[in-house]
Amino acid sequence: MPANFTRRRDLFLDAGLDDPEAAIAQIREDADAIGLADGDASTIADKLRATQHARSDLLGPVLDRLLADASEWLFDRGGDLATILWHARRLASDNHPCHLGGIAFTIAHRLFTSGREREAAALLRFLVEVEFDWGDLYQQPGVAYEFFKAREPNPLVWELLKYIERRVNETAERGLDQVRILELGCGTGNDALGLVSSERVVAYRGIDISESALDSHRQRMKPVLAARPELHHDLTRGDLVSVLRSQPVQDRFNVAYSYSSLHYFNSGELREIFDLARRILEPGVGLFAFGIKGHASIWDGQGVPLYRPDVWVNLDGQSRWFPSKTALADMIVRHGYEIRFHELHDHWSYSERGERDVFHFVVCSPRK
Ligand SMILES: C[S@@+](CC[C@H](N)C(=O)[O-])C[C@H]1O[C@@H](n2cnc3c(N)ncnc32)[C@H](O)[C@@H]1O
Repeated sequence: MPANFTRRRDLFLDAGLDDPEAAIAQIREDADAIGLADGDASTIADKLRATQHARSDLLGPVLDRLLADASEWLFDRGGDLATILWHARRLASDNHPCHLGGIAFTIAHRLFTSGREREAAALLRFLVEVEFDWGDLYQQPGVAYEFFKAREPNPLVWELLKYIERRVNETAERGLDQVRILELGCGTGNDALGLVSSERVVAYRGIDISESALDSHRQRMKPVLAARPELHHDLTRGDLVSVLRSQPVQDRFNVAYSYSSLHYFNSGELREIFDLARRILEPGVGLFAFGIKGHASIWDGQGVPLYRPDVWVNLDGQSRWFPSKTALADMIVRHGYEIRFHELHDHWSYSERGERDVFHFVVCSPRK
C-alpha cells in the first residue's frame, strides 16, 4: 500500500484518534459536502473561503482560536499536524465536537490565505485523496526525479562491492564469495548494471511495481546477459512487500539491495520489510544494503510536517521520512540488524535538478 495511505493512518493514530479509518471517511465525506471532489482544482481556495463561516460555527471559538495559529505552529515553531489534531481533540467539547473535516479544511484555508498555496494543496491531497487532478495547484516544474532516465549507478553500488571484497579478502568469509542479489525497487536497472559488472555477482533478481521501468531494465541488461550467459537475472513485477512475503525461503539471496525506494513505506511496513529480508538473508553473513534520504535532505522541511518530527508530506504530494543518523541507526538495531557501515552522502539523488541531497548509505546484517 502506498506510504501516503499508511502514513495518513499513522497521523490520526499519533493524534490520539483510535479509529483512523473513521477519521479518513469523515474527512472525505466533508470534502464531498464542500464540493472539493467535483474536479475543478482551480476553485479549491474559493470553496474553502465560501465555507469559512460554516466551519467556524462547526468548530466553535476555542478550536477556531487554536487553528488561527496553525500556520505559525507548523512553519515557525517546529510543530506538526499530529499535535494540532491532538490538541483539537482535547479541546473539543460536547457543543463543538472534534470535527475533522472542519479542522483540516480550516488549516488548509489558513495556509492558502497566508500564501502557502502549494502546502495547502499537498495537505488536502494527502488528507482527502479525492480523485481529481490537483496539477494546476501543485505543479512542480523544479522536481526532477528522473528515475526513468538511464544514468550511472548510484555510488552505493561501488561502496557495497568494495565492502564485499574487503569482507571476502580480509575475513576469508565464504558466505559472500558468490553474491546473489535481490533488489527492491530496482527501476530501470541503473544500479543493477553496476552490481552485475562485478564477476562476483552470480545472480540478480529485481522487483519493481512499474512495468515500464522493468521493460527498460530488460532492454538495458540484454548486452550484459549476452556477454555473461551464466549470470542468473530475472525481474518480478509487483509490490515489493507482497513479493517478499511470497518469496520462497529456499530461494536464498545473500544481499538485499534498495536505493531510494524504502521511503515509499511507513514505519510499520519497514519493520515488515526488515523482517522479511531476515527470512532470506543468513544471519551474520547476508547483507541488507540501502540508500534512503535523510535529515537535511533538500526536501526535509518542504511541504507540511505530519508527525514525529521527521515525517513530511512534500510539495509533490508524497510523504517521506527524513531520519537523522541516530534515528535510522536506532531503527536498524531495533529491527534486529547490526550495522556494518552507515555513512551520510551528499550528492544529487532523485530530487531537484542540479541540487545535492543528503542520503544515508547503509549496509547491515541480520544479527545472529
Ligand atoms: C526513485 S526510484 C529508484 C529506482 C532505482 N532504485 C534507482 O536508483 O534507479 C523508486 C522505484 O521504486 C519503485 N517502487 C515504488 N513503490 C514500490 C513498491 N511498492 N513495490 C515495488 N517497487 C516500488 C518505483 O517504481 C521506482 O522504480
